[in-house]
Amino acid sequence: MQSIDGNTVVITGASAGIGRATAHAVATAGANVVLAARRLDRLEDIATTLEREHDITATPVSTDVTERKQVDELVEAAVDEHGALDALVNNAGLVFEGEVETMDDEDYHTMMDVNTDGMFYASRAALPHLKKTDGTVVFVASFAGQYPRSSNPVYAATKWWTRGFAHSLQGQVGGDGVAVSVVNPSEVRTEFGSGRGEQSKDRYDEGAVTDPEAIGAAIRFMLRQEDVDTVSEMNLYRRDKFETF
Ligand SMILES: NC(=O)c1ccc[n+]([C@@H]2O[C@H](COP(=O)([O-])OP(=O)(O)OC[C@H]3O[C@@H](n4cnc5c(N)ncnc54)[C@H](OP(=O)(O)O)[C@@H]3O)[C@@H](O)[C@H]2O)c1
Repeated sequence: MQSIDGNTVVITGASAGIGRATAHAVATAGANVVLAARRLDRLEDIATTLEREHDITATPVSTDVTERKQVDELVEAAVDEHGALDALVNNAGLVFEGEVETMDDEDYHTMMDVNTDGMFYASRAALPHLKKTDGTVVFVASFAGQYPRSSNPVYAATKWWTRGFAHSLQGQVGGDGVAVSVVNPSEVRTEFGSGRGEQSKDRYDEGAVTDPEAIGAAIRFMLRQEDVDTVSEMNLYRRDKFETF
């Protein structure tokens, strides 16, 4: 597998959960990371820790992925600092639980804006640079984007969108050397759900569902594919998932 030592990786949603775990996973392999999320104080703490523990550069960039200009500036900042971009991890995402009948416009639009528009903006900004490096775009989708989810059709639909967009994008840019990969976690112990209600790390006991570090390691594996190969899609589920599904 190819080395990612010295590569530059932009990670959205890097202030918590899977994004933060991915930053640790790729920094362990020597990649420089550009950390994006809205909570800059958190990103700064994570960057300090990463630079102390690894011989890499970690750059925090305050970014709301729903703001096109901020996303463009994020990618520009990464390229200005490192001269190139090797990977984008499209991870920022959120959920508001709710029945369709009673869901208000704000919850609907926020889920759509973050989970779909954000991934589009970041991909569009990154692609010209990834074409130069034969780079990789990773999309964090979900089990909820593969099977109907009665408890939350809107969130599920954003993840079906993610998978559809990612695979079609691979068709468009694969010939230019860009790899596109999708990872589908089932439940992961993170702050997911904190926008409204209980965080998944409070809902599930330690060891009961997937840890974010496992998803971070899977994403690092995706970034290490070489030459013509790509991990098109990876399902990383908890082992008892189909018992409860
Ligand atoms: N946890 C699960 O069970 C699970 C399962 C399958 C898929 N996923 C997917 O995994 C991804 C990461 O979720 P997680 O579990 O790590 O959740 P998390 O711990 O809640 O982290 C979500 C991240 O997204 C960022 N974010 C939210 N809105 C944003 C915005 N407008 N602009 C920029 N960043 C934003 C948050 O940062 P700020 O608040 O600082 O902006 C945070 O860093 C999501 O796409 C989610 O759908 C999660």
